[in-house]
Amino acid sequence: FGIFSLVLFLSIIGVTAFAFNHHPAGGMETIDPEKLEQTAPFDHPGVHQIDQDTYEVVIVAKTFGYDPPEIKVPTGKKIIFKVASADVSHSFSIVNTNVNMMVIPGQINTKEYTFDKPGQYLVICNEYCGTGHHFMKTSIEVI
Ligand code: CUA
Repeated sequence: FGIFSLVLFLSIIGVTAFAFNHHPAGGMETIDPEKLEQTAPFDHPGVHQIDQDTYEVVIVAKTFGYDPPEIKVPTGKKIIFKVASADVSHSFSIVNTNVNMMVIPGQINTKEYTFDKPGQYLVICNEYCGTGHHFMKTSIEVI
């Protein structure tokens, strides 16, 4: 058991170092996944207007869905998506756009996007996250 624990411990260190190495320069903000839903802005997931032309969308990814379940944003405005995971690695991928974020626990993942056309946009999880992975999706209504 002692050796097993040691190997497990080293694996976690290794995986963590590996994951962080892939985002060295981004100035990635970090957050404790266990306290995520008590920590601003993730204690209030949803669409928040910042100014006349800018909206922030705060999203919590967790097995197997996204909070809030409904997202509605306007066309032609700058939308800042802020996504964090409350448990394991997920992704936040808006089909037919260049928004395709890995959502690694402990990190705040940010991406700006402006929708040119109104419509219903499908969001899927591209990162295998467990038995419900294939059902993990939501949609964004662009008005
Ligand atoms: Cu979440 Cu796959």
